[in-house]
Amino acid sequence: MSILVTGGAGYIGSHTLVRLLEQGESVVVLDSYDNSSPEALRRVMQLTGRQLEAIEGDACDEALLRRVMHEYAVESVIHFAGHKAVGESVQKPLKYYKNNLESTISLMRAMREEGVKRLIFSSSATVYHCEEPSPHTEDQRLGCINPYGWTKFMNEQIIRDCCQADGELSCVLLRYFNPVGAHPSGLIGEDPNGIPNNLMPYICQTAVGLRDHLTIFGDDYKTHDGTGVRDYLHVCDLAEGHVCALGYARAHKGCEAINLGTGTGYSVLDVVHAFEKANGIKINYVIGPRRPGDLDENYADPSKAERLLGWKAQKTLEDMCRDGWNWQKKNPKGYRGE
Ligand code: WQD
Repeated sequence: MSILVTGGAGYIGSHTLVRLLEQGESVVVLDSYDNSSPEALRRVMQLTGRQLEAIEGDACDEALLRRVMHEYAVESVIHFAGHKAVGESVQKPLKYYKNNLESTISLMRAMREEGVKRLIFSSSATVYHCEEPSPHTEDQRLGCINPYGWTKFMNEQIIRDCCQADGELSCVLLRYFNPVGAHPSGLIGEDPNGIPNNLMPYICQTAVGLRDHLTIFGDDYKTHDGTGVRDYLHVCDLAEGHVCALGYARAHKGCEAINLGTGTGYSVLDVVHAFEKANGIKINYVIGPRRPGDLDENYADPSKAERLLGWKAQKTLEDMCRDGWNWQKKNPKGYRGE
């Protein structure tokens, strides 16, 4: 019996593969490599000393999904595959709705035909309505401000409705806050295409000299120092959350949305200063205008994850900064350096 991991060569997918293989699971990966590299899978196998099966293909291809599920006796699915750039989703909404919704619909149809009953879905804190206060709890009102967020919202509803229709399904919707950092080995990490949208990879690329300076998007937010506050979560803690969610899905039925965050918010300047302290590197930055759509603060109430999954983030902001830098300095061109 195997676990099918769609998008397993990506940032969060590759870190989750490490934990699954370390736990002795058999894994088959389906990835198009549109926004990832097969080198990440080679390094996952190097790190764990274990083999995995990898198939290059599109997660929207229902017939392919069914063949993989049948051939590898898939018993559970972790669904990472999807486009994830917020800004691009605003420019190209149909690309996001087609890919992110069609892949989930194809997956749920293939699972139904092949009798696969467990799914862990990569959702996002971006589904919480912008007027809902932090710390966010899973029962808060949902609502999005960009097509990327709406695809996560709609996918959650698709999966929830499938669980309503089939009482044997067990699905966990993991709402990630801000994943950052890298495996302590520095062998795998975040490898964004082009100019990073997110804070931590931008800081790392500034530190390694790929970027001249960081622009801090606004310092007039209603926070302790005026810069945006977010719930940064070490990607290895996030990976562990998926292992715990799989264990929960194997023991329960129904559909649960669960936050994966630390419950602690840090500002942009907190992160910059923590990075400088952890790595002994000065980060050049300027204060620029606010980025449209950014909130003052956004962080989790992680108590449901602790109650249901027995999961609690362990790593500190210093760990995130140190491990993120370790990956970046060892791989200045990401996997493209290979
Ligand atoms: C963090 C803070 C920025 C870049 C995004 C996605 C969300 C989720 C998590 C997937 C904010 C500031 C950033 C920069 C800056 N991903 N910043 N200069 O916006 O909280 O959420 O990642 O689910 O969907 O939207 O993360 O890293 O982009 O920004 O000042 O060059 O850093 O204003 O306060 P965000 P982020």
